[in-house]
Amino acid sequence: MNKTMKIFAHRGFSGRYPQNTMLAFQKALESGCDGIELDVQLTKDGEVVIIHDEYLDDLTDFTGNVRDYTLGELKSCNAGGKWQEVYGFQPIPTFEEYCEWASGNSLITNVEIKSSVYYYEELEKKTMELIGRFGLKERIIISSFNHLSALSCKDFMPDMKTGALVGNGGIANAGYYCKKFGFECYHPGVEGLTKEEVELCHKNGIEVNVWTINNMDDLENLYEWGCDGVITNYPDVCKSWLKAK
Ligand code: G3P
Ligand code: CA
Repeated sequence: MNKTMKIFAHRGFSGRYPQNTMLAFQKALESGCDGIELDVQLTKDGEVVIIHDEYLDDLTDFTGNVRDYTLGELKSCNAGGKWQEVYGFQPIPTFEEYCEWASGNSLITNVEIKSSVYYYEELEKKTMELIGRFGLKERIIISSFNHLSALSCKDFMPDMKTGALVGNGGIANAGYYCKKFGFECYHPGVEGLTKEEVELCHKNGIEVNVWTINNMDDLENLYEWGCDGVITNYPDVCKSWLKAK
């Protein structure tokens, strides 16, 4: 078991607030969680912004791709999504705005570099520049489904902590994989993950943070297996459960 298992708010407190907005990040902080997971992409004019989908249609009132709009244009885009009737207009945050906010608290941030559907040439460099400028390096884990993209962040900050992000089913022998290629963390989808894989990661010095944990059976198993962190849409529920253990 791991009594210090970390609770990360997936896209902020996305179970109850509009995902990847400053409102969701602030509410995550207030939930008492340990960290926040978020997604970064680049605008047409090369600004790092926080949004999950490459296209805007499903999460906002704009259509088309994030990369086809300047930051100025995106500032009138409402990321309130399904919550907009409750919480009103919610802007797409820049990563700079987030870093400034994060420098005033002690949360860990898991930054997912969105570079597997569309590859942004300068996303890693610009993300790392902001992390450096705000002095957040010690509280960041970089992850990506594009493993080369995540590892390439070490070109800008050699000791940056990185996670191999994978879907349900994971990678067999992930502990060896992560150690061999220089990841400090393994970030698998919960389905198919086994106690043995977690143990192999730990034997190889690899931290295991699992997504997306929205039911109590999964939470209990991962706790018993000694996982290092869980990424959840409901950080308040997970944190209360863990405190009661
Ligand atoms: O980092 C875990 C999780 O966020 C990856 O999937 O699609 O929610 O970005 P997704
Ligand atoms: Ca993500």
